[in-house]
Amino acid sequence: MANPSLLILAGDGIGPEVMAEVKKIIAWMGARRGVTFDVAEDLVGGSAYDKHGTPLHDDTMAKAQAVDAVLLGAVGGPKYDTLDFSVKPERGLLRLRKEMDLFSNLRPAQCFDALADFSSLKKDVVAGLDIVIVRELTSGVYFGEPRGIFTEGNERVGINTQRYTESEIARVARSAFELARKRANKVCSMEKANVMESGILWREVVQDIHDKEYPDVALSHMYADNGAMQLVRWPKQFDVIVTDNLFGDILSDCAAMLTGSLGMLPSASLGAPMANGRPKALYEPVHGSAPDIAGQGKANPIACILSFAMALRYSFDLGEDAARVEKAVEQVLANGLRTADLMGPDGGTPISTSQMGDAIIAALDASL
Ligand code: IPM
Ligand code: MG
Repeated sequence: MANPSLLILAGDGIGPEVMAEVKKIIAWMGARRGVTFDVAEDLVGGSAYDKHGTPLHDDTMAKAQAVDAVLLGAVGGPKYDTLDFSVKPERGLLRLRKEMDLFSNLRPAQCFDALADFSSLKKDVVAGLDIVIVRELTSGVYFGEPRGIFTEGNERVGINTQRYTESEIARVARSAFELARKRANKVCSMEKANVMESGILWREVVQDIHDKEYPDVALSHMYADNGAMQLVRWPKQFDVIVTDNLFGDILSDCAAMLTGSLGMLPSASLGAPMANGRPKALYEPVHGSAPDIAGQGKANPIACILSFAMALRYSFDLGEDAARVEKAVEQVLANGLRTADLMGPDGGTPISTSQMGDAIIAALDASL
């Protein structure tokens, strides 16, 4: 049987630095676990724009469609801020999500014990936290038409459209219910049904799918603004949260901080199963390209490494190895090793991006 295939798109800013640590884990999997991947690499975002004048070349798009899983670092940077909207680095990422039809974006927020003190919230609020935000990723206001900046009379008007079809809501709801069944069996759906028709439809469809197909799962509904408040008030009330593209973007950044640092949060973006049974999939850290610290060896590679662990679990059915990587991360944190983003107010000496990667490899070695 052919090796499973990966396309690495490290991207911009700290993307290549954190991805370098993931490559160590990939090599370790081959050498020590006998799981060898065929790895190709290509450009996305600003680095693709610099070379090709587009944030995602058609050849790269075709490669992404052909592999078993895409691993992405981060895109964007101040250098590209003045580019025309159509070629901004972010457009490359959005094209991948849209054309691969990665409608279900899983963003787990887990608080490692070693970091419970580090959150900006009180320890008992976050200790043991384990929730997943399921964010719809291919529709809503990110993609709805009409969109643009138009002229109306003597002034300009900026327009974006929030648009959801029943089938788009239904498929992401199903993925949330399926996930909940493997966890604490609870789903909270978030929208703004009090002000948005798309929110009313969202609520109806989620309820309907629940009643017909997942009556065993406990379902609740919440307005997204209340959801944001509840996330910082008592996040442990949640198990799985399902929400739209824009609310999911915001709520997942909020959830990230519960875990101590944005540098800790992985994500999996999944689509429909391919011919080989594996879902279309892209894995990326929730954090961005962090241009302020890029190139300095300060970035935390854990979110990117945990994203690879999600790939092992969701694309390659290697749940045991995924757990092994997650345990290694936990071990390293428990040993007190910290990158700069995890330094408390009382200081300490941060380790570098590559030292963190090496420490995780050492913990993996010790796990055998
Ligand atoms: C995310 C990011 C992206 C988004 C950007 C980089 C386009 O914030 O994945 O959360 O808004 O979806
Ligand atoms: Mg975001």
